[in-house]
Amino acid sequence: MSNVLTLENVKIERDGATTFIILNRPEKRNAMSPQLHIDMCDALDWAEEDDQTKVVVITGAGGNFCAGQDLKLYFRGTEDDPKARARARRAAHAWRWDKLSNFPKPTIAMVHGFCFGGGFTPVIACDFAFAADDAVFGLSEVNWGIIPGGLVAWAVTQVMNYRDAIYYSVSGEQFSGAEAGQMKFVNKSFPLSDLHAQTLAFARKLEIKSPAAVRYTKEAVRSVRGMTQLQAADFLNAKSDALKHVDPEGGRAKAMKQFLDEKSFKPGLGDFKR
Ligand code: COA
Repeated sequence: MSNVLTLENVKIERDGATTFIILNRPEKRNAMSPQLHIDMCDALDWAEEDDQTKVVVITGAGGNFCAGQDLKLYFRGTEDDPKARARARRAAHAWRWDKLSNFPKPTIAMVHGFCFGGGFTPVIACDFAFAADDAVFGLSEVNWGIIPGGLVAWAVTQVMNYRDAIYYSVSGEQFSGAEAGQMKFVNKSFPLSDLHAQTLAFARKLEIKSPAAVRYTKEAVRSVRGMTQLQAADFLNAKSDALKHVDPEGGRAKAMKQFLDEKSFKPGLGDFKR
């Protein structure tokens, strides 16, 4: 596809203002090799700067999301090369947590098929997650004698309750997309045949919102989780004031005029006209 970055292990596809970033090693169930991690870093950096991209969807090619770290290329392949291992680990951490969880545009994980081990981290780092009812999730590390490292154990406790986090990480048992929806590991699950359309429909709603308000809102919600009430109140006041000044569209003033003076929209029921 023209007008998008070309990478070895990652595919980028546009659908209007929504950009799909697709882990692309389908024959290996999208297991994450060092090169795939490097490609994902490049893809996210590209999407961040790409003006056409308003929303990013992370998913996997060939009917699966991700089979976790590549045991051959990531683990065995770097065993005797500490520098290569460090490079791979840096890239793995950078895209799956730092870049995704601080991404300035809304991010959605769209999970179908298998999602194992290290594949959990990007699902959690995205703002939203949707799964196919029959997707198969598993913290499989314990099944082959390792722990959910590389931030996985920490990340799961950000979105799972403690009982579920211990249960699934120690038992290595799988759970379905439908169960992931019930336990709120993902926002919602859908029949596989609807997953793409439902994800895109939600992305379309995000596309038309004020980018500055969306960005500041997600930053605010993320940041206050680690704050005391006093810190949060202070931070949120400052952030609200800052938004008035940094929003190039002047959304707040425009929306107030449309509601109070023109009576042309109702904030409770939809978006103002940008
Ligand atoms: N690392 C390296 N290679 C992997 C992989 C992984 N995490 N997951 C799948 N592959 C490879 C397989 O080795 C196989 O390669 P080959 O064709 O060269 O033999 C190919 O992908 C297809 O996998 P296969 O096991 O034949 O497919 P399947 O559909 O029957 O099973 C899984 C898919 C995901 C259930 C199974 O491959 C699996 O359990 N993978 C490991 C998952 C895991 O525990 N990941 C966490 C790592 S921390």
